[in-house]
Amino acid sequence: MSEFTLDTPTQEPGLDTAMKVVYQWSYDPDVEELRTIYHKATELQWIAERDIDWDRDIDDEKFSTTPLGFAFPIDQTSYWKALDEEVRWDLVRRMAGFRLSNFLHGEQGALMVASQLVNAVPHTDAKFYAATQTMDEARHVEVFAKYVKKLDSVRPIAGPLKNILDATLQTDDWMKKLVGMQIVVEGLALYSFREMRNLTEEPLLKDLLTYVARDEARHHGYGVQYISRCMPMLGDAEKIELEDFALEAAQTLIDQRRGQSLIADVMAIWQEAGIDPSELLQCAFRERDELMQDRPRRLGPVQGFVIPTLKRCGLLSERVATHFHEFLHANLSGKVVGENVEEFMARVPDLPEDTAAWVMGQAE
Ligand SMILES: [Fe+2]
Ligand SMILES: [Fe+2]
Repeated sequence: MSEFTLDTPTQEPGLDTAMKVVYQWSYDPDVEELRTIYHKATELQWIAERDIDWDRDIDDEKFSTTPLGFAFPIDQTSYWKALDEEVRWDLVRRMAGFRLSNFLHGEQGALMVASQLVNAVPHTDAKFYAATQTMDEARHVEVFAKYVKKLDSVRPIAGPLKNILDATLQTDDWMKKLVGMQIVVEGLALYSFREMRNLTEEPLLKDLLTYVARDEARHHGYGVQYISRCMPMLGDAEKIELEDFALEAAQTLIDQRRGQSLIADVMAIWQEAGIDPSELLQCAFRERDELMQDRPRRLGPVQGFVIPTLKRCGLLSERVATHFHEFLHANLSGKVVGENVEEFMARVPDLPEDTAAWVMGQAE
């Protein structure tokens, strides 16, 4: 434990937010489906210290099965394969440390947004549910912090993620908070957690992600159910604003044409590990076609999950789909994204009926 002080050296200066706090004087159940997931959430609470065996060290060899989050298999390039085993492990550890640190910071953002929703949403059942999510997110921060410290060190938050969290915390519109957090950030997180949970063979990480992903499926479900209920009540201008908020959030994280892209952070990590980023990139570029040839088509988190979620909520007009297609096409392979918006939309899968089962890999 560090010494108790009022101002801590690690805190940020306060962020001004514009949230309105809403009292609700009726305590009767008011949104049945939210009351149901609130009850479910209270039943599925878990205790990080008791339910996960933290005495285990991280298994290095098994850890190497953990996906690093690239659309391209960088670890299959000849440059990567020629690296010393020790250098390779160091590189994996640092890159995974960066990715997991950002999961951790994202969890802190979710903790704060969920607690804001307790204040800002007007329905009693929505307040109750947000209270359980707040508890869940505290636990997620707890477990990711513990794991990252075992693996590497906690690295600073990536700029694009910080921008989304700031915008979601700062808006005075509770529906935008739901769209920014439960739909976009948690949608992206759920897709990544699922992939990591199902592919990693590292036992401690797998255990932790099993618990976390189950909670996240519920958080995402809260956003989908609540927003779907709200949409028919909104006018066109309000719908457009919400759609644009979702688009802006997804684009901030994914669009490399914007100033602070994640690739710059990743390249800095390669350098830290003694790797020349331009050599690795050149090799990846040369071997790209061959390596991508036999890989199963992976839609990625936006097209594969966030867009289906927006569609389900009634937040995907043709107008906004065109914008999504444009920026994904500029960043990813046209072969996967689709050459035009019709092809793009034809590839968008339906949102799984049961996301909790989907996360555990039991349903596609
Ligand atoms: Fe979480
Ligand atoms: Fe969450």
